Amino acid sequence: MLSVYDLSISFSRYSFGLKKREVRAIEDLYLQVSAGQIMAVIGQSGAGKSLLAHALLGILPRHALLTGSLFFKGRPLTEQRLAELRGREIALIPQSITSLNPLLRVGAQVARAARLSGVGKKEVRQAVQRAFARYGLKDDVASLFPHQLSGGMARRVLTATATVGRADLIVADEPVNGLDAPTARETLAHLRELADDGKGVLLITHDIEAALQVADKVTVFWAGTTLEVAAADDFREGGRLQHPYTRALWNALPANAFLSARQPALTPPGSPGCPFRLCCARQDSLCAERAPKLRNAGQGMVRCHHA
Ligand SMILES: Nc1ncnc2c1ncn2[C@@H]1O[C@H](COP(=O)(O)OP(=O)(O)OP(=O)(O)O)[C@@H](O)[C@H]1O
Ligand SMILES: [Mg+2]
Repeated sequence: MLSVYDLSISFSRYSFGLKKREVRAIEDLYLQVSAGQIMAVIGQSGAGKSLLAHALLGILPRHALLTGSLFFKGRPLTEQRLAELRGREIALIPQSITSLNPLLRVGAQVARAARLSGVGKKEVRQAVQRAFARYGLKDDVASLFPHQLSGGMARRVLTATATVGRADLIVADEPVNGLDAPTARETLAHLRELADDGKGVLLITHDIEAALQVADKVTVFWAGTTLEVAAADDFREGGRLQHPYTRALWNALPANAFLSARQPALTPPGSPGCPFRLCCARQDSLCAERAPKLRNAGQGMVRCHHA
């Protein structure tokens, strides 16, 4: 349903002396999402997860420069097509609850999203009621303004807004952040239901345990690039994971006794070689010289000279 090849996103920044320079936030990113599947994207803060989400919705800031190829349902995602599909066929559950319109009552916001995504005028009311019920929002929440919601409620409203319509691809950016454990589990179960109904779901999170509860596959980001694509099952055992970073993430899971969890160091952006090398026990001169390419390996893909 969605294919992303060699995606790079950079920003122009003015440094001291008003010198303009390009800062690359995402480089050679690869991603595939199929219909009926939850693809989790995991990566630590600043890895480029939200930028990817915004690129898929065509809502990057103006000073962002994007290169690479994006395809949705087999056709290139041009800027114009992105604008047409946004909210209709591709919907976002944004990371920040400030995305809600502060001046519009919650019910009206969800109804507007339903209309935008092609729900007929007569069916809107019912669609909104269904979405409210699905996310445990009482009817009287419809008449509240966003500032009257708790953080958890606001997150549920965002999820209801993104899923009320007919979008085939749901991009969920940290959908369970700030939710208590039962509500988080429910939200993840709803995303699973959407996938089981044939939609493609991109579940962006830094919470691997949450991702593994529902995902089919996992794409691992590091410093704006894809290090590994693995089946979620590979994380249950750990043995089939290939990249040293992914293996360290697996080791750091509570179930695996937080073995060798450590704060990684970042290679300076734009420097040659493997972006992960400064944290890697297996690095050698080849890793410093040349960035490895993402290649098929085992049942997934890996970007490492030595995996
Ligand atoms: N508008 C912007 N201008 C310049 N740089 C930006 C902008 N937005 C993001 N970046 C940079 O891009 C990188 C990736 O940011 P992004 O928000 O995608 O991270 P993330 O993986 O979503 O992190 P988190 O888990 O904290 O949400 C960061 O280094 C950030 O500084
Ligand atoms: Mg983010």
